[in-house]
Amino acid sequence: MGQVYINTHPLVQHKITLLRDKSTGTNEFRKLVGEIGMLMAYEALSDLPTKEIEVETPIEKCNSPVIAGRKLAIVPILRAGLGMVDGILSLVPTAKVGHIGMYRDPRTHLPVEYYCKLPDPIEERTIVVTDPMLATGGSAADAIEQIKKKGGRKIKFMCIIAAPEGLKLLQEKHPDVQIYVGHLDRQLNDNAYIMPGLGDAGDRIFGTK
Ligand code: PRP
Ligand code: URA
Repeated sequence: MGQVYINTHPLVQHKITLLRDKSTGTNEFRKLVGEIGMLMAYEALSDLPTKEIEVETPIEKCNSPVIAGRKLAIVPILRAGLGMVDGILSLVPTAKVGHIGMYRDPRTHLPVEYYCKLPDPIEERTIVVTDPMLATGGSAADAIEQIKKKGGRKIKFMCIIAAPEGLKLLQEKHPDVQIYVGHLDRQLNDNAYIMPGLGDAGDRIFGTK
């Protein structure tokens, strides 16, 4: 089974509570999604490779670590995954950004892919796939499948809220992927929405509906 990291940080949990509140408006919602993306990326990127360089402080020369290479790719699942990108870029401004477009068929709840553009050379990059919601897990599993078909190897998945059903599916289909979860919720409802969840993440970030 793939490794799963369930976040327990009070700042992340506090911000998730604000996201859940149905009276939180688009502006605030978007800001919170970005901040949670940044805080979760801080943990998810704790294994980025470093190398030592020489630096001269006002006191003396020393060797000190910097991030090795510039090989990070952030791949949001459109649309809602976009909301987490800027927060991660604020930590790693040199990261490249790919896009993968998926939507859930409202009747079958199955994902439909409509776009995929990834930065080269994708096989050499650590890839962070973002989507605030992991519900049935279909969208994330298919998006990661597409990324692997194009050569992606070292993949992490970051979501703000997961349902147990989606987490199980993603672990089964992609046991090599590290999964970072902001909060693990109770279950899906009959429309495959997460309970208690936060509603439709894309609509709340972009003010649609
Ligand atoms: C939402 C969400 C995920 C997907 C999760 O996107 O952002 O991509 O549903 O559901 P799943 O785990 O059951 O596949 P949606 O299909 O609503 O598209 P949107 O982001 O364009 O609104
Ligand atoms: N997509 C969302 O945006 N919310 C859910 O609860 C499930 C899928």
